[in-house]
Formats: sequence, structure tokens, C-alpha cells
Amino acid sequence: MIKPVKKAVFPVGGLGTRFLPATKAIPKEMLPVATKPLIQYAFEEAVEAGIEEFIFVTGRNKSAINNHFDHAFELQSALSKDDKTDILSQVSDWTPKSGQIAFVPQREPKGLGHAVWCARNFVGNEPFAVLLADEMVLNPKQGLLSQMVDAYDKTGGNIIAVAEVPEADVSKYGILDPQSTDGNLIKAKGMVEKPAPENAPSNLSLTGRYILQPEIMEHLAEGRASSGGEIQLTDSMQKMLPSSDFYGFKFEGKRFDCGNRVGFLEANIAYALEREDMAARVKEMLKTYIG
Ligand code: G1P
Repeated sequence: MIKPVKKAVFPVGGLGTRFLPATKAIPKEMLPVATKPLIQYAFEEAVEAGIEEFIFVTGRNKSAINNHFDHAFELQSALSKDDKTDILSQVSDWTPKSGQIAFVPQREPKGLGHAVWCARNFVGNEPFAVLLADEMVLNPKQGLLSQMVDAYDKTGGNIIAVAEVPEADVSKYGILDPQSTDGNLIKAKGMVEKPAPENAPSNLSLTGRYILQPEIMEHLAEGRASSGGEIQLTDSMQKMLPSSDFYGFKFEGKRFDCGNRVGFLEANIAYALEREDMAARVKEMLKTYIG
């Protein structure tokens, strides 16, 4: 029987060095895209996919994230007194219920693999999702994790979102070594973290969404620092391959890598263009910058 995915881990302990000085005092995950912080998009994507328990692996200076997901008593009572129901719903309607969310300190920023391992006692013996908030996929019909859960409910195993990138960019990502393809699922025979272009097994980059079996925690427990001096999730997935199936999942939607400044800017424009209250003016504004 395939156990359903009901838990999600959000690694948010990184230092945000690629966005300094903007992220000196504000967590990278709180940077806004159009109207909401990055982390709220990831959270809402998980809710849409049927996730019921949310585990945030945090670091120092991340209290803005805790506050964002908490009840904002003074703000909410001021808004309801002034009858500002629209704004009030944007502040409170989407927040998790008590007991649905946990914050686990990572203590040391030792990499993505280490962050996921920090959530082990909360994940327990269940499959779980991992969402990296700085990767966004725009698909108004169905969010990325929900697409992956649909695929997982049929195949089980481990599912990793993948997207093709230009050869020059393979060294920025985890890269999948494909064995065979069946529709939008690509059976993996290997994965490597940030390979040099000449060593990359393909141009299929891992795009920050994973559905993993709990056995990954045993491999992460033995994790050693590798690429970039960090404990990589990709290395442990590679080690788990002989005992568990891994599939790359080619998703529907436009991907934005908000881990770099231009990708983040592009996401801001694309998400603003999706909004009725902003699209026309943003289009006009953009025209003044081109040609
Ligand atoms: C992480 C992962 C990498 C993945 C990427 C997606 O890298 O380690 O495998 O392709 O996220 O954005 P990071 O961007 O944190 O260096």
C-alpha cells in the first residue's frame, strides 16, 4: 500500500548570502514576490497538495518567518475594528491551525541534507515532501507539489521535480542521471550535485520539490560534506537508489529560480502579470524600459 504524503519539510535555515545586503536582517524566504513572501507561496502550494503538517527547519534571524505564520493579534483586531475584511483575510485566512506547524532550529547551516535530517523526529516513519521556497513554479491550474502527489499516489517511491536547463547552468543544480522515461516520469539511475558541465549526466536539474521515503533519514544521518562543503540531500538520494525507486517528474508550469537575483526579479514580474489589479499597469510600465 502507498502511504499518503501528509507532512512537508521547509528548509529555511540558509544564510541567504546570494541576496545580501537585502537579507542581512530579513530571511531570504520573506522576500516578497508581487504580493506575498516566497515562503507563503511554498506553504500554500503544500496546502493545495493535501499536506497537513508543516515542519520548518530554521536558523538564526528567522523569527520573521515564525511571526508570519502566527496569529497577529494587534493587527487583526485593528483591521476587524475598522471593518477591513479584505485585508484581514489576507493576513489570517491562510495561516495554519494550532498544532499543524513546527519550527525546528538547524543550529548550524551545514547544508540542505543536514536541514532535512533535523526534521527526522517530526517526520517519523512516513513519506514526506520537501519544498525549497526559492524555487517557484507558476501554474494557475495546479501547483507543482499537487502534480507530484498525483503522480506519487500511482507509483509510490520517491519523486523529484526536474526541469531542463541550458548546459551552461548544470553546475548550479543537482542533476538527474536518467535511465528510462514513461510520460512525465523519468526513472533515475543516479544524481549528482552541481557537476561541471563536462561531467553532467544530463541537463535535468532538480527543482526544489521532493517526495521522499523516510529511509532517506538513515542515509542523511551518515551524510558527509561534499559539494560546497555542505551535507547534500542529493548525495543521500544517490546512496538510497539501490534500495528505493527514484523518479524525476517533468511538471507543467513555468519555473523561476528565485535563488538568483534575476530569477527573483522575473518571478516578481510574472506573478504581478497574473493579477488583475496589477497586470495592465505593469505591462505599460515594462514597455517604457524596452526598445
Ligand atoms: C539546492 C539543491 C540542488 C537543487 C537546487 C534547486 O541547491 O542542493 O540539488 O538543484 O537547490 O534550486 P542550492 O540552490 O540550495 O545551492
